[in-house]
Amino acid sequence: MAKKIHVEYRVFRQQDALSRATAEQFVKGIQSAVTTRGIARIAISGGSSPKPVFALLADPNAPYRAAIPWDRLWIFWVDERCVPPEHPDSNFGAARDLLLDRVPLAPNHAIRIEGELDPEQAAARYESAIRKHYRLEGAKVPVFDVVQLGMGDDGHCASLFPHTAALHEVARVAIANHVPQQKQSWRVTLTWPVINAARDVFFLIDGPSKADPLGRVLLGPWDPETLPSQLVQPQTGRLLFLLDTAAAAHLPAPGADGTGTLEIAR
Ligand code: 6PG
Repeated sequence: MAKKIHVEYRVFRQQDALSRATAEQFVKGIQSAVTTRGIARIAISGGSSPKPVFALLADPNAPYRAAIPWDRLWIFWVDERCVPPEHPDSNFGAARDLLLDRVPLAPNHAIRIEGELDPEQAAARYESAIRKHYRLEGAKVPVFDVVQLGMGDDGHCASLFPHTAALHEVARVAIANHVPQQKQSWRVTLTWPVINAARDVFFLIDGPSKADPLGRVLLGPWDPETLPSQLVQPQTGRLLFLLDTAAAAHLPAPGADGTGTLEIAR
């Protein structure tokens, strides 16, 4: 039985407006979680798109840092390249330099993927760290309050790359994934059922190279082997894309407020 996903997309002309909107999305999700449950768990992606947002969240002259209850926040990673934190390709390393080292988040509130380890060992340790944090039994799935995703030119998200084994893993929380088409070919990633269990999942996508894959992901035929971002179908039935005008080029023009909606059958 196909289900309908309500997709909302917000399109920004200026990069700083896109970054501010993304920072606001994080703050809203964190504040809502802490108000409701006294704790917020977010999972962040790597790559270049979120870097200006991490810097903004840490900026004492911007409104976001003071709006986040850092003592109630736990930060996890959507995925990691299997390199040490000091490596320039490390997702944790980038977040540490731009965010973690600049905010009052206790070190043990950042649960990283140990990219320096053997991939399978790193995945198993990350999964057990998540299960321990959530006190999960059996096959229960952790529910993140916010999951921030990016999307590659090939339609991947997390480290769910086209034609890789991770696309077919539905039982584990995190797995090692071999991605021969990437320079850093070993990755650890959350699995797509975990991403879909999150209360708030949003993509941050910018740049002209993303217009074509985004158009195919949202408007094209169901083809998750080639376009793994199509696997992201939050159980809430809602999905938000924060875009710049270049990335949104193949989507229906948004309204005067920069917002558009799509109902997509999956
Ligand atoms: C990673 C990310 C990955 C990223 C996309 C988009 O480890 O690289 O988690 O999924 O979000 O590749 O990357 P950009 O933001 O650099 O375009």
